[in-house]
Amino acid sequence: MNKPKPIDKEIKIKPNKFLMSVTDLKGDILRVNDYFCEICGYSKNELIGKPHNIVRHPDMPKAVFYIMWKYIQNGKNITAVVKNLAKDGRYYWVITDFEIRRNEKGEIDRFMAFRYSPSKKIVYQIEPLYRKLLEVEKMDGMNVSLEYLDDTLNSLGVSDYNEYIKKLENRSVITSFLIGKFKKLFN
Ligand SMILES: Cc1cc2nc3c(=O)[nH]c(=O)nc-3n(C[C@H](O)[C@H](O)[C@H](O)COP(=O)(O)O)c2cc1C
Repeated sequence: MNKPKPIDKEIKIKPNKFLMSVTDLKGDILRVNDYFCEICGYSKNELIGKPHNIVRHPDMPKAVFYIMWKYIQNGKNITAVVKNLAKDGRYYWVITDFEIRRNEKGEIDRFMAFRYSPSKKIVYQIEPLYRKLLEVEKMDGMNVSLEYLDDTLNSLGVSDYNEYIKKLENRSVITSFLIGKFKKLFN
């Protein structure tokens, strides 16, 4: 399938709406919810069985996905800010909880992503950082962009990307509670 050509138009995610997907251990899509389809413009048929990079936006630095995969492959959940590409070329920003899921034997057998709209403040902070990471990646590769990210986070007094996003977002107890309920519904 040809990748859509990105256009500089944003799709706004409604507050209190969530985009969810479940993948196998390789990142191939197993399930999505209706709102995920509504926002990205692909039908369930077009998504199921496809690699999740179907919605990958070229503005996203590789380093972010590298860190995300390292976390979940080590059995740890992580929250990331992601810019995604819709079928018609528009983009949408999401805060995403990437989580591991286990089978009855306790083995990790799939991953789940739960996404919602980030505040303007978060996008305002993340956009220039990702732009810089992408620039570094294009010139010197991902290892250098990972180093650049580490240095930036150190200078901000945070130990890693996940902690940085958690601090930026500062999710309230009530929001965490509601999100937890939705995640359980989609399990
Ligand atoms: C549960 C889950 C959800 C994902 N959701 C997204 C997503 O919304 N957007 C995205 O670009 N990549 C997502 N990914 C990561 C992709 O699998 C992929 O690593 C990423 O798009 C980078 O693509 P590339 O490996 O072709 O460079 C997800 C992965 C998992 C395991």
